[in-house]
Amino acid sequence: MNKRIWLSLAHMGGREQDFVQKAFDDNWVVPLGPNVDGFEEDLATYLGDKRHVVALSAGTAALHLGLILLGVQAGDEVICQSFTFAASANPIVYLGAKPIFVDSEPETWNMCPKLLEEAIKDRKEKTGTYPKAILPVHLYGMPAKMEEILEVANRYGIPVLEDAAEALGSVYKGQKCGTLGELAGLSFNGNKMITTSGGGALVCRTAEEAKETKFYATQARDDAPHYQHTKIGYNYRMSNVCAGIGRGQMFVLDEHVARRRAIHALYTEGFNEVAGISVLQNPSADFDSNFWLTTILVEPKQAGKTRETIRLALEADNIESRPLWKPMHLQPVYAEAPFYGSNISEELFDKGLCLPSGPTLTDEDIQRVIEVVKKA
Ligand SMILES: Cc1ncc(COP(=O)(O)O)c(C=O)c1O
Repeated sequence: MNKRIWLSLAHMGGREQDFVQKAFDDNWVVPLGPNVDGFEEDLATYLGDKRHVVALSAGTAALHLGLILLGVQAGDEVICQSFTFAASANPIVYLGAKPIFVDSEPETWNMCPKLLEEAIKDRKEKTGTYPKAILPVHLYGMPAKMEEILEVANRYGIPVLEDAAEALGSVYKGQKCGTLGELAGLSFNGNKMITTSGGGALVCRTAEEAKETKFYATQARDDAPHYQHTKIGYNYRMSNVCAGIGRGQMFVLDEHVARRRAIHALYTEGFNEVAGISVLQNPSADFDSNFWLTTILVEPKQAGKTRETIRLALEADNIESRPLWKPMHLQPVYAEAPFYGSNISEELFDKGLCLPSGPTLTDEDIQRVIEVVKKA
């Protein structure tokens, strides 16, 4: 059997264990601690633009707290990109709010600004109020059309929470993803750009927002010698051990971004002349994806095969690939949620495939994937 090629494996640079060992040596084996503070500072420095970062137990927790900070409450509506992973939308429901799904545009595969405005106007007409927040996603690392999205959002005074879970290191018009909206969620799950073995962060604009995030993430404890609560809180802080892994990973983040972009370039070259197969590209110089995952579209008529034929051929060669995210408006759990759009994300789901893109893959591994796809 050929060696297994995985979609996106974690890669340790070597410094991680030093920080973890220090946590053990100092007996800081709890949530919070010097590694958490250090990791937050490293991330804030990396993102630039004077952001305040709060390390949390997951990207999902970051989006949940982000929505709370934006004042989302039970009964409110929140506009969310339909073409995404369920973790973007689920926190809306945790709060008793209602997701309103908006389709993608074909260039970045992210939230369509035109449909966003259509949805905002229609919700106002139907419910008498505007949605409380807008949640675009930089899917697979590709920046959404944030200038247009923010223009619409600002026109109606609705705050934007970026889902940058997959986009650490991506740049839009010279600015890092995660610093474009009012708030942003990052993920450090095992398959992301860097990992803490599981974790996330909320990126805030102000120190006050960061303070409020920490308050909610540590059980919303009031300022009193005893345990007193006037708000519902959560246990969402990152542990000092996990943050040690994160601090070590910051030393290899640039390397990870460069490698994933190099892998994308190899696929682009490999499929250059292959009929019916296209690799998603940055639409213009304004977009600089980290290419967390390289994604292809398969046009069955030109390619003479479907994405599923290709996926199965890869699997038969012991190569992991994955269909693109199934849009939220097609998920049984969200069958009742309003949707604005046509069939863009539906078509992407039908025709799209994520290819192995992790930083541990060699050029030979990528060539093997390309050959299997070509032969399929
Ligand atoms: C687009 C997107 N949003 C949110 C998340 C949630 O992050 P986490 O797994 O850290 O909770 C993920 C990753 O899992 C994701 O891919």
